[in-house]
Amino acid sequence: MSKITAAITAVGGYVPDFVLTNQILESMVDTNDEWITARTGIKERRILKDKDKGTSFLAIQAAKDLLTKSKVDPAEIDMVIMATTTPDMPVAVTGAYVATEIGAINAFSYDLMAACSSFLFGMSTAAKYIESGRYKKVLLIGADKMSSIIDYTDRSTCIIFGDGAGAALFEPNHEGYGVQDEYLRTDGGGRPHLKIDAGGSLLPPSHETIDNKQHFVYQDGRTVFKFAVSNMADVSEKILERNNITGDDIAWLVPHQANNRIIEATSRRMELPDEKVMKNIHKYGNTTSATLPLCLYDYEKVLKKGDKIVFAAFGGGFTWGSIYLTWAYDSE
Ligand code: UT7
Repeated sequence: MSKITAAITAVGGYVPDFVLTNQILESMVDTNDEWITARTGIKERRILKDKDKGTSFLAIQAAKDLLTKSKVDPAEIDMVIMATTTPDMPVAVTGAYVATEIGAINAFSYDLMAACSSFLFGMSTAAKYIESGRYKKVLLIGADKMSSIIDYTDRSTCIIFGDGAGAALFEPNHEGYGVQDEYLRTDGGGRPHLKIDAGGSLLPPSHETIDNKQHFVYQDGRTVFKFAVSNMADVSEKILERNNITGDDIAWLVPHQANNRIIEATSRRMELPDEKVMKNIHKYGNTTSATLPLCLYDYEKVLKKGDKIVFAAFGGGFTWGSIYLTWAYDSE
């Protein structure tokens, strides 16, 4: 029997309607469009305004988009991996709710949390389930309602993040297309630099934690920036070397959309021209677990069977890595 590789066979995406522009942010905090654009590349981001909707809503829309486009019967899905940093609730698995809502009645599901690397690490997990031969359809969803954990009086974080979701279906491939290699890393020493202090087991919620605004994202931007630039570039260079390929061979870099300057540093190190780099940070900001699949969603039409693609991400923890994959289909 030929070797099974794990290929992406369909993608979907969703962003909410409300557009939070740099101009609107100018009226909320002491910032300006010029600073945000020059330092991050972000012009606007999408926000889920409905108070009664959580991350699952975003995830369900992205999954439904994928199912409609691909005409896959949700009852055939074996597993739903929900990559997120903002689950609907603690304890009750968000992925289980999403799977049921989309009609994946025969699937099992769990949430996978690795901050901004959640989708990347989820790709590794999805690939292993497929490569084992035991499962035929694994749906990986990356979704985050970042607006639920952002302090909109803190200009250092509120200008960066947005809400959104993307989904990718992994299936067995016998022609060798799909995930080829991965290089995934973590360093717990990064914990103080990007975190939410309260709400977990270390510091459960209390009146005091709310008064101290400890349920919002804290980021030491400069330190995270330094680590992100060097580590994302390092792993992307390493995965090229390890597979004896160069920037010339690569069709696309799919980088985590945290900061345009980090994306440019990574693509420079890989010696990739701008035309080979997927970017949508200007219109969505940093959607955490959704950045990579939203890139695929936006660029799906130009992808061709056999395209060599490198994914790279960096996030809280610290967590980071790169995955090398060959694309398995021509979009119609
Ligand atoms: O996705 C997970 C991983 N996260 C990342 O990869 C994010 C990494 N970090 C970054 O992208 C950048 O560090 C930021 C975009 C967060 C900040 O950019 P920066 O170039 O590192 O700015 P900075 O924090 O060094 O601040 C420079 C100046 C400061 O003023 P002083 O101290 O030099 O007078 C800030 O107070 O810019 C000021 N500043 C702002 N000014 C206008 C900070 N935020 C703003 C703002 N508008 N929104």
